[in-house]
Amino acid sequence: MGDTYSMTDYQAAADLIRGRTAIDPKVGLILGTGLGEIAETVQDSVVIPYADIPGFPHSGVAGHAGRMVVGRLEGRPVVVLQGRAHYYEGYSMDQVTFAVRVLQVLGIEILIVTNAAGGINGSFVAGDIMLITDHINLIGMGGANPLRGPNLDALGPRFPDMSVAYDEKLRSLARRVAQKAEIVLQEGVYVCLAGPSFETPADLRFLRVIGADAVGMSTVPEVIAARHGGTRVLGFSGITNMTPVDGAMSASTNHEEVLEVGRMLAPKMVAVIRGVLSGL
Ligand code: HPA
Repeated sequence: MGDTYSMTDYQAAADLIRGRTAIDPKVGLILGTGLGEIAETVQDSVVIPYADIPGFPHSGVAGHAGRMVVGRLEGRPVVVLQGRAHYYEGYSMDQVTFAVRVLQVLGIEILIVTNAAGGINGSFVAGDIMLITDHINLIGMGGANPLRGPNLDALGPRFPDMSVAYDEKLRSLARRVAQKAEIVLQEGVYVCLAGPSFETPADLRFLRVIGADAVGMSTVPEVIAARHGGTRVLGFSGITNMTPVDGAMSASTNHEEVLEVGRMLAPKMVAVIRGVLSGL
């Protein structure tokens, strides 16, 4: 537990950010692999490289810029995280969720999380976006829960409720926005694995049986930290590839494909997120 942060660490990072911008963000956005482009459209933007923020882990994965953009989107004060720390990079769960804690100290009320994911549900196609209705914390069931260790009572309770992790009102808003924009919005359960190796066919059969619609290597720890601190959450998966089904094992998944399809579906994701922000 040597890397456990204290409130002082979160405050120090938040102070650095406050010192660089007069904007008081109320919505945080975490952009997944290949989905960083919405950050380019933030107005009155101040860019803060993660490396400037004390304690902030900076990701080295292709498709992740590693910077924070504070400004306005659809008139709303936002803080956009272009790139996240992943557990598979070797970061602790405390480091993976550090950014969420800092955003909570900054005063965000809503966290919008996005990721690239493999489609498991046979009715999805690569290029779809999926509204996350719930998640399976497979990585946490094995013990890697970001709330393990002493509870910081200033942030939230020891045993936080997760019965409605993804805010129902925000989900309804996202559905209305997508329908109006004629964007197909799939819905389903996201399962988080540690990665970084992709799944074997047997892994995928297992994930299908336990009720997962999409699989990825992020998001769930951040959502747990968000809910622990009472932050409302909205989540989207960009389905960058369909995982091979039984009897069709020729397809294989690679990071280039994830990046490329991520870029292709990003405009739809941006449209839904913008619509949600303007409808808040
Ligand atoms: N599996 C796990 N993570 C992923 C995938 C996948 O197929 N696609 C994008 N992220």
